[in-house]
Amino acid sequence: MLTFDQVEETAALIRARAPAPDVGVILGSGLGAFADTLTNAAAFSYSELPHFPTSSVVGHAGRLVVGRVGGITAAVMAGRVHGYEGYGAAQVAFPARVLCRLGVRALLVTNAAGGIHPRFSAGTLMRITDHLNLSAQNPLSGSNDDRLGPRFPDLSHAYDPRLGTVLEKAAETIGLSIDRGIYAHLSGPSYETPAEIRMLRTLGADAVGMSTIPEVIVAAHMGVPVVGLSLITNLAAGVGASLSHQEVLETAERVRPDLLRLLTNFLPRLVQA
Ligand code: HPA
Repeated sequence: MLTFDQVEETAALIRARAPAPDVGVILGSGLGAFADTLTNAAAFSYSELPHFPTSSVVGHAGRLVVGRVGGITAAVMAGRVHGYEGYGAAQVAFPARVLCRLGVRALLVTNAAGGIHPRFSAGTLMRITDHLNLSAQNPLSGSNDDRLGPRFPDLSHAYDPRLGTVLEKAAETIGLSIDRGIYAHLSGPSYETPAEIRMLRTLGADAVGMSTIPEVIVAAHMGVPVVGLSLITNLAAGVGASLSHQEVLETAERVRPDLLRLLTNFLPRLVQA
């Protein structure tokens, strides 16, 4: 079965049980709580959605919730799968394709990331302005289906600068500071070595993580503007002390109230923008 037909099959199932979303959101490690704040919600576990990959990692519970926030409808993925679980980039990005196919006007992609820029500390919010795909994978590998998008999509404006400014405005309104930076994607699941982090710094990366880029590439392929948001959950290897998934989850927990306020304020603005 072609990817296009799979995407359409899954989108049709969601359309039958939920209203059309204005915006799509993918929540990163430990950030899934936002999905619980939606009202009038229709929820789907990933296991009931055809072709959706399912995750086993603690903190990555798989649920799609379509519901209301501030007068708009959001389709929110709480949890995502990663390449290191054995999925190819196209499979990792499949849910993002479904959100785009549902007709969202914009996609907000969030993640937990290690901080490389010396100014960052655990808890820093970073708007992603661009990325370095160092995963050695691309979700568009293989034959192209022109119904989804062009063979050679332009990524020059993959992170929509205008909508990014709207995110910064939302943060300012609620008194949160937010940085900007370049996100580098390595495949994981081991964290980076200090030498790799020095390399990434030399290459211009400000944060590092194991996700997001596959979803951003398919959104660009389908012509959907993206806003990227990293929560710096820890200092990257060699920048701080040793690191652990526990620390990632603890920081996400600590920053959760701020993030919930930010998303609640920001998403309705995406529709007005
Ligand atoms: N490296 C890679 N991925 C991550 C990190 C990190 O330091 N923190 C959270 N996700």
